[in-house]
Amino acid sequence: MGTVTRNKLETREVDATPYAASLIEGHRDFGYNLETALADIIDNAITAGARTVELIADTVADEPWIALADDGSGMTETELVEAMRLGSKNPTDEREAEDLGRFGLGLKSASFSQCRGLTVLTRQDDRTSCARWDLDRVAKRNDWSLELIDNPELVTGHDLLPETGTVVIWEKLDRLSGGYAHDRAKRAEHMNSELSHAEHHLRLVFHRFLEGAKPRLKLSLNGRPLKPIDPMATSHAATQKDPEEILRLRQGDVLIRCHTLPHHKRMSREEWEETGGPEGHLKSQGLYVYREKRLIIAGGWLGLARQTELTKLCRIAVDIPNTMDAEWKIDVKKASAQLPPVVRERLKKVVERFVGTSKRTYRSRGQKLVDETRFPIWNRVQKDGQIVFRPNLEHPVFRTYAEQLPEDLREGFERCLRIVGSGLPIETLHAELVGNAEAVTADETSANDLEELVYSLAVTLMENGVPSDALSDTLQSNPFLRVRWEAAAPILEDFLRTRIS
Ligand SMILES: Nc1ncnc2c1ncn2[C@@H]1O[C@H](COP(=O)(O)OP(=O)(O)OP(=O)(O)O)[C@@H](O)[C@H]1O
Ligand SMILES: [Mg+2]
Repeated sequence: MGTVTRNKLETREVDATPYAASLIEGHRDFGYNLETALADIIDNAITAGARTVELIADTVADEPWIALADDGSGMTETELVEAMRLGSKNPTDEREAEDLGRFGLGLKSASFSQCRGLTVLTRQDDRTSCARWDLDRVAKRNDWSLELIDNPELVTGHDLLPETGTVVIWEKLDRLSGGYAHDRAKRAEHMNSELSHAEHHLRLVFHRFLEGAKPRLKLSLNGRPLKPIDPMATSHAATQKDPEEILRLRQGDVLIRCHTLPHHKRMSREEWEETGGPEGHLKSQGLYVYREKRLIIAGGWLGLARQTELTKLCRIAVDIPNTMDAEWKIDVKKASAQLPPVVRERLKKVVERFVGTSKRTYRSRGQKLVDETRFPIWNRVQKDGQIVFRPNLEHPVFRTYAEQLPEDLREGFERCLRIVGSGLPIETLHAELVGNAEAVTADETSANDLEELVYSLAVTLMENGVPSDALSDTLQSNPFLRVRWEAAAPILEDFLRTRIS
């Protein structure tokens, strides 16, 4: 056997420390926006045990600023310096069970995504410490030296600092000026609209912390308390909650719970709009993934189903612990994650079953509404595997009128009705119903038409053996009349009075 010679690589070392100026600028573009950036700072406050977080924004000042003050544990100066370091913690380190952080980056990258001046003021055991990153200074010096400020009482936001706690201040808000750097009014308007968007996000993302008689967290924006938005509408009596399922995995338990939101008619307009969010209910159906009670994914089926009109009230809460971060590929912004394969398989079954049942209930409800009605105006007809809606020529209103017409005109009248039926604008309806179903309604009926309808239906029903005291119930089984019952009821009373007298 020949000898095996191992060639050892000959190496030299040179210094390749990253350039501070370019690396820190790169931290501005992790893809945060105002809402995810604010949420990241609030995560830190929650992890530090804060019970109150005050978000203050001065949008009209010469130099607008945003501050987040919390009454959490605060930091010593050494801890503050560590906190300001980029990559202060390693993502592979084990975290406390309720820690919302992962990378040791959030404070810096979230802040730099919005501003060029990040100051952190913190107080613990009566000692106040203050440190600042000013990106313009880093750009000039191109090194990692952090400024410590020895007279913090002069810093904007100092008066927000509690006995123990931390204030994060963002200045030089270049990314929030909306391109109106020199137009103060427009700039303020833009910032305020961004803030109101962010407000909805924060109320949603932290809803589990904000809920209950004794909430874990009080959050306010410029002094106004923010109320939680529960995307599962858990406390609404009409929300359907399936039993919780537990998926036991090596790294911890995943909890899965399917919810069906109440129909929009059973919710107040405010509730409906809040749970639907800016994108509406169609886009908000799907999975809601919580990491340590903090919402990280709000809606969408992550490729497990399609968002359809029939399933728009379906929402599944999925709870994961922070021990699964690597498997779920939790990103720095805590705004995205990917399903690990074992969870995906199991969840796929849950989603298919849930979505399937929901579609069936929806369909059969629609079918029932038409089928159970005596004398519907439209008939639902199944033909060659397709569903057709046809005006019901046997409807008493149509029949009574047709019978009064001479033979030749009667045929023409029925033809007109058939043409109305085959001219039903299915595609337009479809397009309108997707995403905006609540806004599509039937046309109004005049008082005369309604009277004609109630009279001829009542006469026919009685001719068909329906007793007069059952007329009201029978007429109300007609969806058309049910929604107009307030107007229809006096007409029926009138009819009965004239009949009996
Ligand atoms: N409001 C605060 N109160 C007390 N300590 C804080 C506060 N904000 C940050 N810290 C400390 O600073 C550290 C760094 O925060 P940073 O947000 O950069 O990283 P992280 O929260 O550890 O992880 P991630 O990158 O996932 O957010 C935290 O781990 C924490 O120790
Ligand atoms: Mg953090």
